[in-house]
Amino acid sequence: MSKRKAPQESPNEGITDFLVELANYEKNVNRAIHKYNAYRKAASTISKYPEKIKSGTEAKKLEGVGQKIAEKIDEFLQTGTLRKLDKIRNDDTSSSINFLTRVTGIGPAAARKFFEDGVKTLEDLKNIESKLNHHQQIGLKYFEEFEKRIPREEMEKMETLIQAELKTVGTEYIGTICGSYRRGAPSSGDIDILLTHPNYTAESEKQPKLLHAVVEHFESIGFITDTLSKGDTKYMGVCQLQKSAGEEEEEEEEAFLHRRIDIRLIPKDQYYCGVLYFTGSDIFNKTMRTHALEKGFTLNEYTIRPLGVTGMAGEPLMVDSERDIFEYIQYKYREPKERSQ
Ligand code: TTP
Ligand code: MG
Repeated sequence: MSKRKAPQESPNEGITDFLVELANYEKNVNRAIHKYNAYRKAASTISKYPEKIKSGTEAKKLEGVGQKIAEKIDEFLQTGTLRKLDKIRNDDTSSSINFLTRVTGIGPAAARKFFEDGVKTLEDLKNIESKLNHHQQIGLKYFEEFEKRIPREEMEKMETLIQAELKTVGTEYIGTICGSYRRGAPSSGDIDILLTHPNYTAESEKQPKLLHAVVEHFESIGFITDTLSKGDTKYMGVCQLQKSAGEEEEEEEEAFLHRRIDIRLIPKDQYYCGVLYFTGSDIFNKTMRTHALEKGFTLNEYTIRPLGVTGMAGEPLMVDSERDIFEYIQYKYREPKERSQ
């Protein structure tokens, strides 16, 4: 998953920006995930709103915008700033912790610990490099590169390469690049690949080889450059496109950057629940799960199961496409590019 989210264009960008900044503060500094979700939800509905918001009262009519957020919107509209945010930005603890969590491998808890040990900046991290775990060391090594979003054009090149190389590892592999790319985003924070294979189902033995063979092949062609973690079903690492011969000749062309890549191997019968989940957005997923519950189903990244009268989940339902899931819960099908909110 990526740490940097794309900015959204809307007539209320000032408001959504400050809500996202508050959300990140709640998650990274206070570890208050409910507040984080509440700010994200409000930012999401406001970014969909086509008019320029003129008051907190107007915003309060929107879903997910309560009294407290409405007051902040009023303050922002009247003064152009938010005292709470100014305070957070000027506070050494908050700004340092917020900064440290931008390094992949450093979560809110580790960031606080580093801060308490006096480690606050990139320089500080470099000075204690040997004390960082492997994931954090790679995060530090590519810090600047991972901060940059991946243009869609580069994502398309990677998709072409990934699909072609996948077929050379095994003709039966099915691979989907999910995340913001599948939603049609103009840029992505990372590459989220979901893999499956007809031989692998939830009932069968684990087959880590199916995942590792792909990873090893990507390493052998120089596409994967570093590994953060490699489990039986989930791989996290770093990749980089190589310039083709023609491109190399143009002197001004710079090399492609190192990018974060996650590859998950999913049983075939759970594949489409996985594809749905990892296509997101996370806010769309929450909305869809809520709708599923209202219709008497429980939906997660693995399965959709009916809920009995006692609220107990039954056996997983057969799913052979994303559409199947929408149909079970009587939700109008939404193309991936319609799932950004
Ligand atoms: P991300 O890669 O974090 O998000 P993204 O691909 O939408 O955006 P970006 O361009 O910044 O990479 O996660 C991939 C998907 O996984 C996300 O779209 C939805 C799902 N997801 C959740 O539903 N909840 C979560 O908490 C996370 C981290 C991801
Ligand atoms: Mg992503």
